Amino acid sequence: MASHEAVLEQARAYVKSELERDSSGHDWWHIVRVARTAKLLAEMEQADVFVCELAALLHDIADEKLNASKEAGLGKLEAWLREAGVEHVVRKHILDIVSAISFAGGNEEPPATLEGRIVQDADRLDAMGAVGIARAFAYAGWKGHLIYDPKLPPRERMTKGQYRSGISTAVNHFYEKLLKLKGLMNTESARVLAGKRHQFMELYLREFDKEWELGNEAYLEESAVFHGEISRVHIAFGDSAGGSLRQALRGFPGEMVVTLNDDLMFGPLSEAGAAGGLSRRVAWWRERVSELDRDEAVEYLLQAAFAWRDWPARLRGLPVVVWASDSAAEQTGLRRLLAALPEDADVSLVNAADLLRRRVKEIVYQSTGEIVSEKLAPLLSEAKPLLPEEREAYAADWRRLVAEGGVLRVWEGGKLRTVPEDYFDEAILKAARKLAAANGTYVKAARLIGEVIGHSEQKVDDGFIEYRVRKLIARGLFTYTGELKAMRYYSVSLAEDEPDFAEDGQNI
Ligand code: ADP
Ligand code: NI
Repeated sequence: MASHEAVLEQARAYVKSELERDSSGHDWWHIVRVARTAKLLAEMEQADVFVCELAALLHDIADEKLNASKEAGLGKLEAWLREAGVEHVVRKHILDIVSAISFAGGNEEPPATLEGRIVQDADRLDAMGAVGIARAFAYAGWKGHLIYDPKLPPRERMTKGQYRSGISTAVNHFYEKLLKLKGLMNTESARVLAGKRHQFMELYLREFDKEWELGNEAYLEESAVFHGEISRVHIAFGDSAGGSLRQALRGFPGEMVVTLNDDLMFGPLSEAGAAGGLSRRVAWWRERVSELDRDEAVEYLLQAAFAWRDWPARLRGLPVVVWASDSAAEQTGLRRLLAALPEDADVSLVNAADLLRRRVKEIVYQSTGEIVSEKLAPLLSEAKPLLPEEREAYAADWRRLVAEGGVLRVWEGGKLRTVPEDYFDEAILKAARKLAAANGTYVKAARLIGEVIGHSEQKVDDGFIEYRVRKLIARGLFTYTGELKAMRYYSVSLAEDEPDFAEDGQNI
């Protein structure tokens, strides 16, 4: 009987020579990864490490793609195990594992032994995450399938034959197999590892879908993420509100969340389609945002501009629920959206912060994005349909804001008020005094900004406050140490002889 290490060494050489040239997703490096993972899982789950590693190394040798039939493959494997001097019980165990683990359409029983379940987990983990994504696209290319075809919906259920030979796409494969794997893990450690890889695949699909969406008028029919009927669209202003809502509406098929970004509390506004509106807005931010955040800010604005341009037309004929709480950004977004939607659109409104304040007096939320999904979900039933006159009032208020030509708006007593750009400066100076950032004591800019935001009546973006801090430095009200390229790189202190704010504090 050969030693374990000698058998493993022979197995590596054998498998390497057999699979080296495979480009269907079963190449040698797949085997290496599965063997390593199987070994790790075996240690965690206190299984037979040798059996797991050996079975993992050999698990694709009998694959029907590489052999005349599965039986022929298993026969070949048995002969090799005998030749390598593997004892009878182990030989039988390895053969059982290899014949039990391939996915082939789902629905099969888990392998009978812990070692078999471990090798299956390791093999399935390698079909997930970043590596799994790469393998799916490589496989699709090898098969002659497309990356994605909006006209080809994913198959719900398939037989083994359909799984192997039907026409699919790389993206459909996520829905047909990869996203199901998380729920099929046999061992606890694999389940945990799979969770992370699953999230990454979901993120990948969302990004894929976003890029497919850009400027695409037929997006709702072509989306790689939403399949089938969309019965209602939820509008969230900003990524955190969108994220919370998406979480809240998980498991409600047909409810789609659309995020309309761009914090409309700040910057010049213009009528939809007005010439130069977008470039003026981008230029306004570009001048104000710190150097290190500039590209990110511009990218965000461009994506947002596309979304605002395309969504009103895409929403035609679909009921819309707008989520707008008590923040200037959301309230301005609501007005802009109602000015852009067709008059006969079916729109209802949820002000989640307001509804929750009525219920739990002590919690004051400003924006929808601050509210956890568990609290948002029950509010859906309270969406209030907007009457034609209410809608017209919102649209008219949008036109008022545009006409006022301001660059900063606050939400006060249920109204949007255009205020001068230095509106927050006094609060910034007050916060600096409170933090004793004076007399040569420097406080991190990020800390000062946090203090301002934490105590503000307004839900206000930190990038804007940071801009005002730099402005106050430029005006001699603060001195600083470090570099002004982003808020984490410098600290500030009130200037020794603070110029009288009231005199010097006109609009800039
Ligand atoms: P195994 O037999 O190792 O369980 P498969 O032979 O089913 O796996 O698949 C090998 C790799 O190719 C895996 O990463 C799998 O996700 C991928 N794959 C299988 N079928 C498709 C398909 N129709 N489209 C894209 N990728 C696929
Ligand atoms: Ni495999």
